[in-house]
Amino acid sequence: MKTKCTFFAESARILNEETVMDVIREKTEELEQEDPFYILDVGDIVEKVKLWKMKLPRVKPFYAVKCNNHPTVLKILAALGTGFDCASKAEIQNVLQLGVDQTRIIFANPCKPLSHLRSASKLQIPLMTFDSESELQKISVYYPEAKLVIRIRVDATDALVSLGKKFGVLPGDAETLLVAAHTLGLNVVGVAFHVGSGCRDPSAFHQAIISAKMVVEKAVAIGFQPYLLDIGGGFPGTHNPPIDDFAEHINIALDEFFPEGCGFEIIAEPGRYMVASAFTLATNIFGKREITDTDGALESIMYFINDGIYGSFVNVVNHHQKFHFLLIKKQDDDETVLPCSIWGPTCDSADQVVPETSLPNMPCGQWLMWPEMGAYTLAKAGTFNGFPIPEVIVVVPYTIWLWFEEHPHHRVSMISVETQTD
Ligand SMILES: Cc1ncc(COP(=O)(O)O)c(C=O)c1O
Repeated sequence: MKTKCTFFAESARILNEETVMDVIREKTEELEQEDPFYILDVGDIVEKVKLWKMKLPRVKPFYAVKCNNHPTVLKILAALGTGFDCASKAEIQNVLQLGVDQTRIIFANPCKPLSHLRSASKLQIPLMTFDSESELQKISVYYPEAKLVIRIRVDATDALVSLGKKFGVLPGDAETLLVAAHTLGLNVVGVAFHVGSGCRDPSAFHQAIISAKMVVEKAVAIGFQPYLLDIGGGFPGTHNPPIDDFAEHINIALDEFFPEGCGFEIIAEPGRYMVASAFTLATNIFGKREITDTDGALESIMYFINDGIYGSFVNVVNHHQKFHFLLIKKQDDDETVLPCSIWGPTCDSADQVVPETSLPNMPCGQWLMWPEMGAYTLAKAGTFNGFPIPEVIVVVPYTIWLWFEEHPHHRVSMISVETQTD
């Protein structure tokens, strides 16, 4: 079956009839297997890109590298022709090394260290965001030819992470900043916003697009010729809810305020959307503690797994994110469930992944599977207490593998991937 392997690493596993669950089960049944691991399903990313094209045909995705910079993720998205949102010079270099053209990159960090700004200038990265006068001063010295995108603050009422408390000028204050840019002789080409990561309020995009339009009008009045609207990230990464509601709000607002033919390019910076559901984590229960009442009856169980809040579950502490998991059953356990908690492997008592749940009384050696773990997990994980970051096993559905192997150096039209996979 595996005749050539130019695009994917030799280690990528081709899926014929098997599912991700089959691969996980097989791996956990290996005698020596104890360490946690991820399965990265390339097919899921390809499907997400296809879906995006279908639901948001006017919006070009610039993937937010910070969300998950696994080399296979970047390589697939580069081949599929997306753009990239980079936050630092390292991310820019990472993307350029894949042969991605500078015009497919936006340096979307509104407050950049000087050396990163100089590097962007040297590498001729055209687009970058700003939201303060001090950033404009830096840019006017180190990269005056940059095409600038003003980041405005428009917060969703319900989001996992509100970015507005750190970034974005209030739409009402944008004019002063635009005048400052004009006085410095800089070139403002567009408006950007981010409603908040893990947004649960699709109507926020509608309001944000209205605000962006108002700022565009101010920019025109000052003398700029803006042509770019960047609607940021915030889209759900899970299969449920899908992006349908988001797409509907966005498409309606775009039709009204940035209609086709108005001369505006529309881009977005999805992170979570592209990768969350493509990664499934498997963790091993390597320890347990039974808590009994004064009569010696079993009250609850503490389970210890080999990945925690200093690894893949880092968002538990920062964003009170709830994770869900499934049991990978190796044997028929007693179905009676007990109150229990799930803890990470380090010696820190804060290293708790799930404070309260119900599970059967299981022996050590059982595995827990955590779906939809691709966003802000691996990219933020550390090795506190010496526990390693889980390895990533790449799996590729056969039709997709074949397509990439045959077109390793070409940008793919989503339509052609569709023809191949259906
Ligand atoms: C500037 C910027 N763009 C895009 C993203 C990606 O957001 P999300 O993963 O919610 O799509 C982030 C996330 O922090 C961001 O800061």
